[in-house]
Amino acid sequence: MELEESDLLTTEVAGLRLRNPFVLASGILGNTASLLRRAEAAGAGAVTTKTILPEPTKGYENPVVVELPFGLINAMGLPNPGIDEFEIELREARSDLTIPIIASAGGGSPEEVAHVAGRLEDAGADAVEINASCPHVRRHGLEIGSSPELIEELVREVRGSVRVPLLVKLTPMVPDIASLARAAVRAGADGLTAINTVKAMYIDVEAMAPVLSNAVGGLSGPAIRPIAVRAVYEVSRFGDVIGTGGVETWRDAAEMLLAGARAVGIGTAVMTRGLRVFSEIGEGLTSYLRKKGLTLPELVGRGRRDC
Ligand code: FUM
Repeated sequence: MELEESDLLTTEVAGLRLRNPFVLASGILGNTASLLRRAEAAGAGAVTTKTILPEPTKGYENPVVVELPFGLINAMGLPNPGIDEFEIELREARSDLTIPIIASAGGGSPEEVAHVAGRLEDAGADAVEINASCPHVRRHGLEIGSSPELIEELVREVRGSVRVPLLVKLTPMVPDIASLARAAVRAGADGLTAINTVKAMYIDVEAMAPVLSNAVGGLSGPAIRPIAVRAVYEVSRFGDVIGTGGVETWRDAAEMLLAGARAVGIGTAVMTRGLRVFSEIGEGLTSYLRKKGLTLPELVGRGRRDC
């Protein structure tokens, strides 16, 4: 039986059913209900909020983003309104949107992340994504996110405070990302988001100084896509994956799915090309699936050598 066009892209990831695999990545348009609504209207299958912390955080001074020919380096410093204020925004978003809302939770300790995660769930989040992989904010990233033991402790704590699906966003900056994935799933994660940005720096040779106020930031965009594809390939053995990192075209999305991702995060491309990327990638992927005579679940992992 020929699948309806509208069914062709449906997927399930970490217990969430999505109308298509395209997930607005955390950090892009994820601060307000109205921006999340725009992503839904543009065709996203799910949206992820900006990382929310227990208290409001201003973030770093400008400049916080550098645009390069092959991607962006950003160091925002986790600016966010704090959980008290964001709860109101999330309730509004939940009552407006029909697609799943994945809420990104952060904090300086497992207890803080668990507290934020529980309140995000109470405010209507359909899933929680733990951000323990920011490459440049102290106590919110690599100190925890690059250790399987600390990831396990963190996920166990958060698992104890939420019933909705739990995802963990992983850093690629470790020798063995599979060990992080294994630890996260062992501690109760339902899925993995791979990858967060890669620690990077840009120096202005005229000014003879780093451009970002924080000097160091996280590289995203096309430059990191091969790293993300490799990471997805390595971690999708352990659980459902949202493959994120440099996806700009339907070919890039197909590559993530072939590597084993069940959904595809789109972030930097929304900033550089606008919200139309969701429909453009959707149309291209639909044609590709028709040409190959495959459903989306049949594509997932088909590029793996071990399949
Ligand atoms: O600077 C930032 O807000 C980045 C966060 C992240 O990479 O997780």
